[in-house]
Amino acid sequence: MTLWYLARGSGLVLLAVLTANLVLGIAIQGGWHPGAWPRFAVQAVHRNLALLAVVLLVIHVVTIELDPFVPVGWWAALVPFVSPYRPFWLGLGSLSLDLIAAVVVTSLLRSHLRLRWWRVIHWLTYLSWPVAVLHSLGTGTDTRLTWVFGFEVGCVGLVAATVIFRVGRANRYRAGVRVLLMAAAAATPMAVLVWSAAGPLQSGWARRAGTPTTALASGAPTAAGARGRPPALAPFTASFLGSATSSPSGQVETISISGRVQGGAGGQLMVSLVANQLPGGSLAVDRGAVTYRPATGSQIYTGAVVSVGPGSLIFRLAPRGGAAMPAELTMNGPVPASSVSGLLYLGSVAAGPAGGDGGQDS
Ligand code: HEM
Repeated sequence: MTLWYLARGSGLVLLAVLTANLVLGIAIQGGWHPGAWPRFAVQAVHRNLALLAVVLLVIHVVTIELDPFVPVGWWAALVPFVSPYRPFWLGLGSLSLDLIAAVVVTSLLRSHLRLRWWRVIHWLTYLSWPVAVLHSLGTGTDTRLTWVFGFEVGCVGLVAATVIFRVGRANRYRAGVRVLLMAAAAATPMAVLVWSAAGPLQSGWARRAGTPTTALASGAPTAAGARGRPPALAPFTASFLGSATSSPSGQVETISISGRVQGGAGGQLMVSLVANQLPGGSLAVDRGAVTYRPATGSQIYTGAVVSVGPGSLIFRLAPRGGAAMPAELTMNGPVPASSVSGLLYLGSVAAGPAGGDGGQDS
């Protein structure tokens, strides 16, 4: 779960840092200078932002590779267009990485290179940015979230505005050429909007983008859509293996159960129960929340515990904005314990002592 958040978060912060550095680079080239800042300080900011981008890129790639939910493969991070997961759109990320790597390596070897060659290669930075933006829009499962999409289009708008500023000051070009370049820059955010509306914002994009059908079947990468109906999971029965810890605080005790689901849609299940201590030492569960993340894709299913029986929890699970389905976790042995095993029934409830599946959704 942490890996998944880190993978997406690092991608978004990376895009912000690359955009900020590109804007700074273009603005400096265009003769802009921030107030009292000496030239070397501005250059140091430019260099440090580039270093930060490299660190974030490493985090982004490593977390994507370690996260079992997105099948990418280490080679695909470096070699464009060979990934089994969204090959073209992920390949653009790899291409952007290669271009950035070329700029970083040649910058480190700058004293050994002719200035002209170094400059030519440094121009690749300009190419790596739009390639990275297209990768973000086409690969990101969050593109359909309004704030993520707004942020990504905002980056494009910021760079377009800076290019307009830069071209406006470039007196060495003829007026006609400048107007043309400025019009092209101004039209770019609009073009991104139109393309996104026909592509990544459409439902069914995950399939068109080349998400493996195994990942689609378990319901996930298509699902991040804030619009469109998230898919329900097919019912299954699977074994559960995990652990449970308890943290008492006065009369209240919080019990956390987490572990792997083996079989069905696989993945990770987490339960958090809040219980009151009764006289005599027994516990009465007051409320509980459940989070289920299938093995593939990015959809998260959450819900509330609706009833608790001996060795059994009945709850409802729903994807964000989607319909809830009943579920039950039966556990062998006492809880809390360092090892908890049992069965997870999703889409149906076992005929156990707790019975019934009514209750509220999350
Ligand atoms: C400069 C290069 C890169 C930038 C700026 C970048 C940026 C991003 C951004 C902004 C997202 C969207 C995150 C979201 O929707 O929440 C994303 C998603 C993703 N990136 Fe990258 N990326 C780059 C390179 C790479 C590389 C080399 C790989 C190869 C391993 C990669 C793999 C992915 C994957 C698999 C996702 C989808 C994650 C998900 O939403 O579940 N990226 N990237």
